[in-house]
Amino acid sequence: MTIAVTGATGHLGRLVVDALIARGTDPAEIVATVRDTAKAAGLLAQGVQVREADYDRPESLVTAFEGVDRLLLISGNAVGQRVPQHTAVIEAAKAAGVGFIAYTSILRADTSPLGLAPEHLATEQLLAASGIPFALLRNGWYVENYAGSFGPAIEQGTLYGAAGDGRIAAATRADFAEAAAAVLISGESGIFELAGDQPFTLSELAAELAKQSGKPVAYQDLPVPDYAAALVGAGLPEGFAGLLADTDGKIQDGHLDDSTGTLSRLIGRPTTSLADAVAAALKA
Ligand SMILES: NC(=O)c1ccc[n+]([C@@H]2O[C@H](COP(=O)([O-])OP(=O)(O)OC[C@H]3O[C@@H](n4cnc5c(N)ncnc54)[C@H](OP(=O)(O)O)[C@@H]3O)[C@@H](O)[C@H]2O)c1
Repeated sequence: MTIAVTGATGHLGRLVVDALIARGTDPAEIVATVRDTAKAAGLLAQGVQVREADYDRPESLVTAFEGVDRLLLISGNAVGQRVPQHTAVIEAAKAAGVGFIAYTSILRADTSPLGLAPEHLATEQLLAASGIPFALLRNGWYVENYAGSFGPAIEQGTLYGAAGDGRIAAATRADFAEAAAAVLISGESGIFELAGDQPFTLSELAAELAKQSGKPVAYQDLPVPDYAAALVGAGLPEGFAGLLADTDGKIQDGHLDDSTGTLSRLIGRPTTSLADAVAAALKA
């Protein structure tokens, strides 16, 4: 059985390839599809097949998916362009005779008011219309989304956000990657709402940073527009800063909280604790 992973040079994609191998998949039966083969030396060294596949070049996709039984479509990172990109991937998978697609969506994509949700929901609908058996890996928030602010927060003594005391059931990319590998190996269709076992607030995250750094760190809540402006000030592009601040605002209303335990059930262990995730990020 041949399993392909798109975006395999990305953060999540690399971890999915690692998790497939760790769970016993023969590297020769893994196809890592990548936009830029020059970045794929590490994948080649693992013994996996590397094929070029660019979501923006549909002609590259059918060739890349030849002989593939199960495909993980990792959502692209070009927000605003993802529906045509994912359409091209799904159409190519159909043309190549792929028998199963898993897609990395967002938590409760069908009801989520997050600005990031509509492209995921549109992709889910494309999959449902494709006739190909599919699994929706509705990933919650990555803990790593906050890692870039750990250093400045420890330095300044303040972690900024706009999430109030909203609970965030974040999990590490490695946890989500392991779930993707488990579903690819089992071929189980369905909708999986995936999130960490122990939701935390940004005040609790600040307290964890203080504990591990030995320095005082407090959480300061900002109105959504002020937080967006602060992110732009820190160097993020305006559109992306707006999406992150929008997400924080909606975290206040519980839209990234979850208590289903589906992720830990899929991976067969508790999800990585906040303490371990912070420790790993501080070491990196
Ligand atoms: N749940 C969350 O908290 C969260 C947070 C951030 C992102 N996401 C979503 O999850 C996805 C995976 O996360 P990540 O951390 O692995 O992101 P990432 O490191 O940015 O990886 C994205 C991957 O998509 C590939 N890609 C982008 N455009 C492409 C194209 N036109 N054709 C083929 N491949 C293309 C990239 O290729 P290159 O390696 O060549 O750049 C990269 O491998 C993201 O793309 C995004 O949709 C989720």
